[in-house]
Amino acid sequence: MTLGDDCDSLFPEHQSLFPFQRPAGHDLDTAFPLASTMAPSKTSDDTLLVVGGGQMARALVGGMLRGGAADAGDVTVVDPDPRSQDWWHQNHPDISFQPAMEGALASAAKVLLAIKPHVLPDVLDTPSNPVEAWGGKLLLSIAAGVPLKTLARGAGHGRVVRVMPNTPSLVGQGASGYCTGPDVTDADRSWVERILGSVGTVVGVTEAQIDAVTGVSGSGPAYVFVMIEALADGGVAAGLPRSVALQLATQTVLGAATMVRDSGQHPAQLKDNVCSPGGTTIAAVGVLEQNGFRAGLIDAVIAAAAKSRQLGGG
Ligand SMILES: NC(=O)c1ccc[n+]([C@@H]2O[C@H](COP(=O)([O-])OP(=O)(O)OC[C@H]3O[C@@H](n4cnc5c(N)ncnc54)[C@H](OP(=O)(O)O)[C@@H]3O)[C@@H](O)[C@H]2O)c1
Repeated sequence: MTLGDDCDSLFPEHQSLFPFQRPAGHDLDTAFPLASTMAPSKTSDDTLLVVGGGQMARALVGGMLRGGAADAGDVTVVDPDPRSQDWWHQNHPDISFQPAMEGALASAAKVLLAIKPHVLPDVLDTPSNPVEAWGGKLLLSIAAGVPLKTLARGAGHGRVVRVMPNTPSLVGQGASGYCTGPDVTDADRSWVERILGSVGTVVGVTEAQIDAVTGVSGSGPAYVFVMIEALADGGVAAGLPRSVALQLATQTVLGAATMVRDSGQHPAQLKDNVCSPGGTTIAAVGVLEQNGFRAGLIDAVIAAAAKSRQLGGG
């Protein structure tokens, strides 16, 4: 499986996971009567069960360990894939690994669901993981498109967090948005921000804004990949070898993004700073405007957000 496969195939297969919509102001205890079965945790607050040991789990757990947000001895990973088991044993020998969920929930205070959305029903509220077993555990899901209500219904309580990460998390440069269920505490939010912050930037949003997060940062890396490719194509058209053009295009995007992040200046100001009167750059900016570059990007974000809303049943 490639990362591109993952992100592009995330959404269509999720539609069956949105069986109902929660009306605004609807009380979670009414919607999920099993919330009353929530039992106090008997485990250390730091114990973490990671369900799914693939690309994102590896990135997140690696970031957590590097940043001191977790100790390897507190982490258990569950994944049926033997290749995954090999990877975890080789790279994190101090992390416990098991191929199936059986018994794993009991010893965890927090659970990170890092599985594909279509696998969620195999994990939440199953005969071996009934809602009672989820009592008192913070449940964090990175499964794209799966709403808080589905998580809360499966766990039997509202201490649930929905995250929209993006692929640059895999290189420690992610941008994640998250929203929380009604039983999530301030301490839970701090923990979520610590672990997501260990692989990039993190922002808290409302669930209604998660589709917009998908449009900007979830799908955004693809727009930037297209832009880097096109910049390099332009370089080749203007006479550069492909490898040189790609190297320059990549570093230009990285450098410009770093300037926006670190200078505190508005991108329009930074653009003005490099457009000298009658010069080359303003000539190029004029061509971008004529060709709808800015409007195209705005429309792309709106289209991705709308698609995300549609696939989520909204
Ligand atoms: N990759 C990204 O950049 C990205 C970005 C945004 C959101 N996400 C979300 O992150 C989640 C994980 O993505 P990923 O890229 O890390 O996927 P992945 O690399 O495919 O990892 C998922 C792992 O979970 C395993 N698994 C399957 N069923 C399981 C079960 N019942 N219990 C425990 N583990 C099970 C899979 O094994 P098998 O291969 O044997 O099925 C696989 O090793 C997805 O929901 C995706 O929507 C990912």
